[in-house]
Amino acid sequence: MTRMPVPSRSAESGAPAPAGSGAELRLSGLVKRYAGVAAVENVELDVPSGEFLTLLGPSGSGKTTTLSMIAGFTEPTAGSVVCDGREITAVPPHKRGLGMVFQNYSLFPHLSVRENVEFPLRQRGVAKAERSRRAMAALELVELHGRANAKPSQLSGGQQQRVALARALVFEPRLLLMDEPFGALDRALRERLQIELRRLHQELGITVVFVTHDQEEALTLSDRIAVFNQGRIEQVGTPEELYERPETLFVARFIGESNAISGEVAGGVLTSDSGVRMPAAELPDGRAVAIVRPERVGVLAPGEDPAAGACALDGRIRDITYLGAQRRIEIDTDDGTVIVRSGTDLALPRIGEPARLSWSPQNAAVFPTRDEATEMRNPWTATLAPSTSSSQS
Ligand SMILES: Nc1ncnc2c1ncn2[C@@H]1O[C@H](COP(=O)(O)OP(=O)(O)O)[C@@H](O)[C@H]1O
Ligand SMILES: [Mg+2]
Repeated sequence: MTRMPVPSRSAESGAPAPAGSGAELRLSGLVKRYAGVAAVENVELDVPSGEFLTLLGPSGSGKTTTLSMIAGFTEPTAGSVVCDGREITAVPPHKRGLGMVFQNYSLFPHLSVRENVEFPLRQRGVAKAERSRRAMAALELVELHGRANAKPSQLSGGQQQRVALARALVFEPRLLLMDEPFGALDRALRERLQIELRRLHQELGITVVFVTHDQEEALTLSDRIAVFNQGRIEQVGTPEELYERPETLFVARFIGESNAISGEVAGGVLTSDSGVRMPAAELPDGRAVAIVRPERVGVLAPGEDPAAGACALDGRIRDITYLGAQRRIEIDTDDGTVIVRSGTDLALPRIGEPARLSWSPQNAAVFPTRDEATEMRNPWTATLAPSTSSSQS
């Protein structure tokens, strides 16, 4: 499909930049405290020009506060925001020249779609004909130019969010900030808009900082992801780095599905609660947890022995789900439920029958635990529970 060329950059934001280039962002030592309580603690982040970076973390982990400091709505307690080498920590939001899209798209109900998109240009004093032309170009980018005269109430939720996106893009910002923009939409629509957003990002070359608590969304969209936990960044990396080489237990459990097997380290060996031993050479003695990805665990055929040096664990098949070319198997063991993802070619014991699991110790990442009860809770809900909302952060 042929697309409209991107309109040339205007000089109104005062940012002299080559067409199609995104802003470069640097956050240094960013801190935000409310009445002494830290919402964001020492955030360091470099976002190169044109990157799609996602702030990912559970509710209350400091994502919105960080985004709001980039936008200028929240004044940092300490630290700085630098955009294209210029410190903007004290610059008011409307002078930062960035586009924003929130979960609540907040369109003006009495204005048409086109007038909504023109709004930021009107505020900037752009003449009527030029306003209209640029609004239509922005609407074309989100494929809504056919609905320019409709009122927001005549559009679906997904279409309204695309109008909000057109409104954020209409003055050609070099940095786009998005806070859970698809959070209110159903799954199918969310996935469609994710694909559109990827296309737009590639086409426009702008820098995007995107906030979500949905790890799948983050993995789908991002060049890199910064994983937030309790106001801090635990790790920044590409989706693959975070999945294959998590640096903390929180990241290992938050990104993708994982099996967590707890035990005790003594003399560089982890012994699980049921007696499976795995090397843990770099860990001090004490409680620890081994993380093994479901696709790295195999189910042995009846009578088959595990490979030399492999870990083995006996269990009973609780459930099998077919997912097209794959199946997902849940097995009850003395170390808890273990999840396996396998191809569908292999014959398997049936539900209720015993099964022997095996994995290479090289595929287990071992992390020390300090507060096991907290750290082993489901990381997606860890900070959502009402009882923790006042005590955490
Ligand atoms: N205006 C505020 N006053 C007091 N506490 C706040 C304020 N805004 C956010 N917080 C607290 O800061 C922490 C991080 O919040 P937020 O950045 O909104 O998290 P997220 O966007 O990751 O869900 C939470 O504990 C939240 O309650
Ligand atoms: Mg938020």
